[in-house]
Formats: sequence, C-alpha cells, structure tokens
Amino acid sequence: MCSNQGGAITRKNRSNRNVIRIEKINKNKKQFLDLLLLADEQENMIDKYLAGGDMFALFDDDLKSVCVVVSINNETCELKNISTYEKYQGRGYGRALIKFITDYYKNDYKAMLVGTGETPSILSFYKNCGFEKSHRVKNFFTDHYHHPIFEEGIQLVDMIYLKKDL
Ligand SMILES: CC(C)(COP(=O)(O)OP(=O)(O)OC[C@H]1O[C@@H](n2cnc3c(N)ncnc32)[C@H](O)[C@@H]1OP(=O)(O)O)[C@@H](O)C(=O)NCCC(=O)NCCS
Repeated sequence: MCSNQGGAITRKNRSNRNVIRIEKINKNKKQFLDLLLLADEQENMIDKYLAGGDMFALFDDDLKSVCVVVSINNETCELKNISTYEKYQGRGYGRALIKFITDYYKNDYKAMLVGTGETPSILSFYKNCGFEKSHRVKNFFTDHYHHPIFEEGIQLVDMIYLKKDL
C-alpha cells in the first residue's frame, strides 16, 4: 500500500508496518555525503548541484539510498546523483527511488535526463528503469575531474546522457 503525503511516500507491509519511506530533504543535505560520493567521487562537483537541487532519501527502517534532481529548463529536469549503500544494492531501492521521482516531477517537466560514464552496469540500471540513450558530451570526465576516474576497470571519458519521458 502506498500513500503520498507532502512529498513523502510511505509503503506499508501487510502488518501495516512502514517498510519504505521516501523523504524530500531540505536541510543539511551534506549529512548524506558518504552516499553522494559513491556516485560522484569529487566533492566540489557535488557542491555544484547540491544546494540548488532537490534531494530525496529512501529509508527502509534506516537509510538505504539518496538522489538529487535539478531543473534544467521548463521542460527538462536532470537526475544528478543516485546511490544505494553497497551492501543494499540490487534489492530494488534504486528503482523505487526513480519511480518516485519520475512520478513526483511528471506534472512539472516533460522529460528527465541523467548523465553517466560509459559503465555497462550503470547504463543497464538506467535502461532497466526506462531511460534511453540521448546524447554524449565528449571528454566531460577528463576535462572536469582532477584525477582519471575508473569504474569497473574502465576509464570514464565522455558523459553519456540518457532520457526518460515523464
Ligand atoms: C546504480 C545504483 C544506484 C542502483 O541502485 P540499486 O538500489 O542497486 O538498484 P536496483 O536494485 O533498484 O536495480 C534496479 C534494476 O537495475 C538493475 N541493476 C542494478 N544494478 C545493476 C548492475 N550493477 N548491473 C546490471 N544491472 C543492474 C537491477 O537488476 C534491477 O533490474 P530488475 O529490477 O529488472 O532486476 C547503485 O548500484 C549504486 O549506488 N551504485 C554506485 C553509485 C553510482 O554509480 N550511481 C550512479 C551514478 S551515474
């Protein structure tokens, strides 16, 4: 069962116990820096979107995942960061958060973008969540990050953008 009250979603199990709760976080967003750094390893890059972005945190008893969304223009918003604690990955929390934010923004924007490195597992995750490849920004990671970034043994060079219609 789901209820959506004032930007928070709560899903209950059969014994009416809250199992998943998604909250919009308006204050002290840096308290979740450890999670944000899993998706974006350079803090000054996170600082570029954190203050102006909407942050959502998913709790299943305790904190499991966070994400940050920014407005690009009247028609498009962008998911700038999404991460689930490593030991809880693969349990559906990331998908639940994406479902929540795409519902949350569907009356405000026509589409949601997300940019990521060329990491096959992350691209699969977004495709699994209904995103399709949109465009590529050449050399984004080599131009904007202090150090080379490797994920799953692959150096990230271009930013790959995916898009989902809302
Ligand atoms: C990417 C991430 C947020 C996914 O969160 P999650 O809670 O593990 O995702 P879910 O369990 O909801 O997975 C949703 C779907 O994506 C698929 N998926 C998730 N991780 C995957 C992986 N590593 N490889 C392939 N598919 C994957 C799942 O199989 C699932 O599909 P299904 O429901 O059909 O089985 C998480 O792996 C993470 O925090 N990674 C580190 C941070 C990061 O890289 N963030 C993205 C930056 S662009």
